[in-house]
Amino acid sequence: MYHLTLLCMIAAPSALAFPFVANLPGVNNEMLEARRAHYNENQKRQTSCPINPNHPGAHKYVAPYLYTGANHGLPGSGIGCFDVPIPGDPNHYFEAPGPLDIRGPCPGLNTAANYHFISHDGIMTFAELLDAQQNIFNVGYDLAVTLAALGVGLTGDIVTEKMSIGCDATSRTSALGGLQGVLGKEGGINDHNKFEQDTSLSRTDFFFHGDDHTFNASIWKEVTAVTSGFNNLFNRDAMAKIMSERYKDSAATNPNFYFGPKSVILYGAASFLYELIPSLGNQGIPTREVVNSFFGAKPDGSGGFTFVPERIPDSWDIRPTPFTNADVAAEVVALYSQFPVPLGGNVGINNFNAMGSFGTAIQNGKLSLNPKDVKCLLYQIATENVPDSLSTVLELPLNVLNFMTGKLNPVFAGSGCPLKLT
Ligand code: HEM
Ligand SMILES: *[C@@H]1O[C@H](CO)[C@@H](O)[C@H](O)[C@H]1NC(C)=O
Repeated sequence: MYHLTLLCMIAAPSALAFPFVANLPGVNNEMLEARRAHYNENQKRQTSCPINPNHPGAHKYVAPYLYTGANHGLPGSGIGCFDVPIPGDPNHYFEAPGPLDIRGPCPGLNTAANYHFISHDGIMTFAELLDAQQNIFNVGYDLAVTLAALGVGLTGDIVTEKMSIGCDATSRTSALGGLQGVLGKEGGINDHNKFEQDTSLSRTDFFFHGDDHTFNASIWKEVTAVTSGFNNLFNRDAMAKIMSERYKDSAATNPNFYFGPKSVILYGAASFLYELIPSLGNQGIPTREVVNSFFGAKPDGSGGFTFVPERIPDSWDIRPTPFTNADVAAEVVALYSQFPVPLGGNVGINNFNAMGSFGTAIQNGKLSLNPKDVKCLLYQIATENVPDSLSTVLELPLNVLNFMTGKLNPVFAGSGCPLKLT
């Protein structure tokens, strides 16, 4: 039995009609009424999604061009420090996306697709996502599984294990006409507040134009300007400052601004700029040039940017060692602790309401500064019913929950996090 499990408040006569939601941790009861009007606004836009009849799939890894050896969704060696693409590899090369290819809000996945590490049309499988993350960036197997599970589980199809790296491509990701999706449709990673959220580094908040996935050159100009205070580098201190600036901007301008438990993913992505994106990763230097290349930001010569397809810079090297769940959790804490902003959301412009608590990782609207709590929060946001606005909760259907625990329990075994048995 499938049923729509996003509990939204649009038609509710009162909050009391939804005692389940009202009692959930992280949901602010007083906000239920006020929130309704804004929620309506938030959900109204849908863009059309291109269909490419040619679905090449990820190109194969052929010896001796095996990267970390990650293949078929299995763990690789974790040994990095080589050029990507490996010189001479006939299968992984830059090809700009065409009008029928889907691209979205993630610079990492857009880049992977542009080089055929994942399917060039923008529709890919869980296994392809694991291989690509390990082989291009040396993402640790546990983190690769975590991100792919969040992507496929929340925005894709748990039977085909396919996902779109942008818009809703249910007709191609689904086995059963979309019924496997968490919302009865498979929105792809553009889908707002499933994985994609407000305060992105280079994308506009969904509320303004219903476009949360296109590169926004003026946001990127502001973000880049912040690095002037940090030797023009996207290093940890610069990213902490940038995150706080992006938060302030959204809080001041977006009446629908929401920064909930899943904002932990945004801090994680911010750490990718100095952990994964520099040549040699955490051993390298997060220069504007290298970060621009992965974001598709081309300086226009007068301080601004134009968008060009995302590229791996020439002679670029993958980081030496894997970047794991524990590593990303430590970076989230390092970033957040510099500017420990309250989690929650707006009900109207500049009317911020902090969320309550969510597990141990979020107490009184603040993220825990214990890296272990943050690591376990990554597990929780994939396996629990998480508030996805001040008044709505994304309830995971049992089959999606089973998918999540099936993927995550093996890589979180021994993590010290309480695991769900289903
Ligand atoms: C299966 C794996 C992955 C999925 C499903 C995924 C998905 C996403 C999504 C939905 C966003 C938008 C978040 C937001 O700003 O609202 C995002 C942002 C981002 N991702 Fe990924 N991602 C994955 C792996 C990676 C990897 C391996 C990299 C490596 C560089 C990466 C780099 C980034 C960066 C830098 C951002 C921030 C962009 C911005 O804020 O403008 N991602 N990702
Ligand atoms: C890009 O960002 C700027 C600054 O936040 C905003 O004013 C503008 O509307 C955005 N453009 C689009 C197309 O989203």
